[in-house]
Amino acid sequence: MVTDGIFKSMTDPIRRRILQVLLQNELGVSELVCVLGAPQSTVSRHLKTLREAGLVDARQNGTSATYFPVRGQNGPDHDLRDRVLDWSATQELPAPLRSRLDDVLRSRQSDSDAFFSQVAHRWDAMRTDCFGSAFHLDALTALLPSDWTVVDVGCGTGYLLPLLAQRFANVIAVDPVDEMLDVSRERLRGEAAKHVTFRKGSATNLHIDDNQADLCIASLVLHHEPVPPDALAEFFRILKHGGRLLIIEQEAHTLSDFHEMMQDRWWGFDRQELCNQLTLAGFNECEAHDLQSVAPAKAASIDAPGLFALTGRKP
Ligand SMILES: C[S@@+](CC[C@H](N)C(=O)[O-])C[C@H]1O[C@@H](n2cnc3c(N)ncnc32)[C@H](O)[C@@H]1O
Repeated sequence: MVTDGIFKSMTDPIRRRILQVLLQNELGVSELVCVLGAPQSTVSRHLKTLREAGLVDARQNGTSATYFPVRGQNGPDHDLRDRVLDWSATQELPAPLRSRLDDVLRSRQSDSDAFFSQVAHRWDAMRTDCFGSAFHLDALTALLPSDWTVVDVGCGTGYLLPLLAQRFANVIAVDPVDEMLDVSRERLRGEAAKHVTFRKGSATNLHIDDNQADLCIASLVLHHEPVPPDALAEFFRILKHGGRLLIIEQEAHTLSDFHEMMQDRWWGFDRQELCNQLTLAGFNECEAHDLQSVAPAKAASIDAPGLFALTGRKP
């Protein structure tokens, strides 16, 4: 009987201590051994009794387990269990145990500190090897509402599309070049493809109705656009009131090899001038942002201009 088990659990002072300690922190057996100063076999035996009574449960942490009190869960005798735990929580933890618990928790942090002090100079490479270099972008998009309609103007090869399709239910990718649209379609397979529709169009003719988009992105596109102010007007038209514009652009530059290689129309933009053009197109809250993670030319065989992001809002 679980009820008997609960009463039995509370008859033993070590089990009462274990509960008290676990109410402070989830711990592994060896950590409990340090805090309680009891042999491992004793701690394990008492943990077994507490688990059978449903007062404690364990979760696997790799090859070991950590133990925690079970509170607020339905099941037989959940009222009694919660009362026992509430009572245990009111009991003061003796100072030596408190101090050993603090030591155990500090040593968790010092293990981690010791590791990172060893790998500080290698960490970026380890991080990228293990997880890639863009997962934080995925995470940041989680801050944006998933029901947004997002337009990727000049989607090109669809570099942004996996990220956008993962977060947003409705993504419209527009490009004037069939070959680019084909590569974009190829890039998106399975579930992600269901969230994206492709349109052949240009920045000045997006084939999207008025007031449709929550976010309009033009990444590395405006310097190809014959008449940038007309493109800004088109972005304004398709955005909902309150919708956001995100432009990623090259800084104004004089790098002729780069310009020739990329066949750009414009040699980048002065960010303040582009901000003014956004305002003239009706946008407010226009702000330019450095893109400091861009490291042009370091890896490339050619000097490339820096990039900046420009954001605005349709009032
Ligand atoms: C440098 S790629 C950028 C692709 C993508 N946005 C990215 O960030 O990787 C430029 C793309 O803009 C497209 N493009 C060129 N002129 C355009 C225009 N007037 N309107 C919309 N897209 C245009 C090109 O076909 C090309 O696919």
